[in-house]
Amino acid sequence: MKPVELKNGIFWVGAIDWAVRDFHGYETPRGTTYNNYLILDNEITLVDTVKYDFADISIQNIRAIVDPSKIKHVVINHIENDHVTSIDKIMALCPDATIHITEKGKKGLARFYDISPWKMRVVKSGDTLLIGKRTLLFLETPMLHWPDSMMTYVKEEKLLISQDGFGQHIASAARFDDEYTTCQSMSELEDAITDYYANILMPFGHILKSKVADIQKLGIEIEMIAPDHGIIFRQDPGMVIKRYLDMANGKSDLSVSIIYDTMWHSTEQMTVPLMHGMKDEGVDCKVIKLRATPQSVAVKEFWKSRGVLLGTPTLNNIMYPSVATFLTYLRGLRPKNRLAGAFGSFGWGGGAVKEAYEIFKKIGLETFEPGLEVLYRPSEEDERKCYDYGVAFAKKVKEYHKKFE
Ligand code: FEO
Repeated sequence: MKPVELKNGIFWVGAIDWAVRDFHGYETPRGTTYNNYLILDNEITLVDTVKYDFADISIQNIRAIVDPSKIKHVVINHIENDHVTSIDKIMALCPDATIHITEKGKKGLARFYDISPWKMRVVKSGDTLLIGKRTLLFLETPMLHWPDSMMTYVKEEKLLISQDGFGQHIASAARFDDEYTTCQSMSELEDAITDYYANILMPFGHILKSKVADIQKLGIEIEMIAPDHGIIFRQDPGMVIKRYLDMANGKSDLSVSIIYDTMWHSTEQMTVPLMHGMKDEGVDCKVIKLRATPQSVAVKEFWKSRGVLLGTPTLNNIMYPSVATFLTYLRGLRPKNRLAGAFGSFGWGGGAVKEAYEIFKKIGLETFEPGLEVLYRPSEEDERKCYDYGVAFAKKVKEYHKKFE
């Protein structure tokens, strides 16, 4: 791996993780990168570090440009393990450097490392650091993605180093949006942005909106966005900002995800007429079986659609375990602006569909009621009911979607 120059004297010195498929519990089918940036100026500055397994790669990249002992400042935008767990190796190389970090970042870092030997400067929004001909402006962004998070804006370059914000989990030889959309495609990039937002930033959409508004109020011009994961936006940084804001404002496709699991294929059988009913009503529909799909992919599909129909058999009077696990994950992500209904087969007393609605209400989702339940195997009459339910759900989704147009 080689460093890549973003702007004159500013280099990507990160690492590409082609192999990661389980990122703290969620699926990353495209791998990821850990991006950090080296700024050559009168006072050499490193912005962020990388995950511990990749420390040597990043250090090698730094060494290709400069002797690491010459680094005067290390900015830590975020202390999650994927960004900060090589800080000890970095500080061993430049022990006189000053770490610039938020108050919460400093407290958190002290839980992972003995920080007593390190010079630390606590910064807050609006604080700056003059490193020569360039000025770094710090912008706290708590909960994007952890309480400690901040972004660093390089004023003279109009470059926003945005840590987790505006990231995507993509491993690629391409570093920039124009390169990636040439070797892959814009739709691939958009899908990765949606996947990342849905699984990581969905609960914090309101904070994202207010932080973007703060940046606009400060009159900050952005020519380039360099996140700590994935592709750097140099051709069209406005694209990723718009996409994030659209998601934070509740935009989605006029479509439905049927997300289900099944024991003996009865609940699965119900998905077919449900899908036909929706399709005939003019609403696109995707069918996702949970035991065949990573949860993070199911969440992404949920998030892309205006409506969700959750299919669950009843097992011992409650929801099927894989469906319950999915709903637990979804509940933590606190989704908004989606219409939810539930269906499923039961053999004894039922209970799963009722439980699904209880959880929808705890999450705060709009619901389409009542749900649809079938005893044992769906009969032809039951299949007609499923079709009609699909039509009715699609009508309601179309009506609900108008609120967001
Ligand atoms: Fe990429 Fe919140 O760490």
